[in-house]
Amino acid sequence: MPAPATASAAAGAVAGRRSADIELKGVRKSYYKDRIEVPVLNGFDMLIRPGEFAALMGPSGSGKSTLLHLVGGLDTVDAGVVRVGEAHLERMSEKQLTAWRSRHVGFIFQMYHLVPVLTAAQNVELPLLLFRMSGGERRQRVRTALEVVGLGDRMDHRPSQLSGGQEQRVAIARAIVTDPDVILADEPTGDLDARTSQEILGLLNLLNGEFGKTILMVTHDPRAAEHAQRVLHLDKGVLDREVSNPVRAARP
Ligand SMILES: Nc1ncnc2c1ncn2[C@@H]1O[C@H](COP(=O)(O)OP(=O)(O)O)[C@@H](O)[C@H]1O
Ligand SMILES: [Mg+2]
Repeated sequence: MPAPATASAAAGAVAGRRSADIELKGVRKSYYKDRIEVPVLNGFDMLIRPGEFAALMGPSGSGKSTLLHLVGGLDTVDAGVVRVGEAHLERMSEKQLTAWRSRHVGFIFQMYHLVPVLTAAQNVELPLLLFRMSGGERRQRVRTALEVVGLGDRMDHRPSQLSGGQEQRVAIARAIVTDPDVILADEPTGDLDARTSQEILGLLNLLNGEFGKTILMVTHDPRAAEHAQRVLHLDKGVLDREVSNPVRAARP
């Protein structure tokens, strides 16, 4: 991977050390399949400190993605509290959630979710189109975000012209271009080989360490989880265990 961009190089796209804590209290969430209730979370509690890098592990179907969607305002709880920083998501309308999400959350998915017909720069620019901002500032932010992930020289490439690891780096640039305070990653290395995974995790570490982003990352890979300060284990909708990583102890 190219040398990570320095803090000064990143100023502008990921300027602030804003970070938010995340609190879930008594959260209940069910889905319905053929009118049959499928309870996923049944009185769920969780607390993530501001600026913490937490990993979430657990068997398939245990509710990890559901949890991430609730924290990111992509879905709503049936009952309980979801607070991210000062925002109470359980009190927001759909419209308020959309506006909040665009400013405060960056999502990273396993399969990148890039738009194939757009260039790297155009993909990264997408979230900024919701903002009132001059074209010049937008271009500058896009450039800086791509430089942070080491792809300043791939701005005009389309996803099909990039490797999987590069595609995920574009997706990370897209997640940080709005300078969110929380990054939610759902198995971000699930489709990558071991070496590329470590590069992506190095980037998440940079965003956490240099820019103070709070990160909640779902992963199946114990080696990926080692990068987090704390690993939460979810089973059947309950946190049944958590392990702090002494090597990556929380920063002041
Ligand atoms: N949109 C949905 N509609 C119906 N059931 C869903 C939906 N999303 C998730 N589920 C169900 O909720 C449970 C938890 O799913 P999910 O949060 O995706 O688990 P994980 O990410 O841990 O694999 C599963 O039983 C899944 O089938
Ligand atoms: Mg999932």
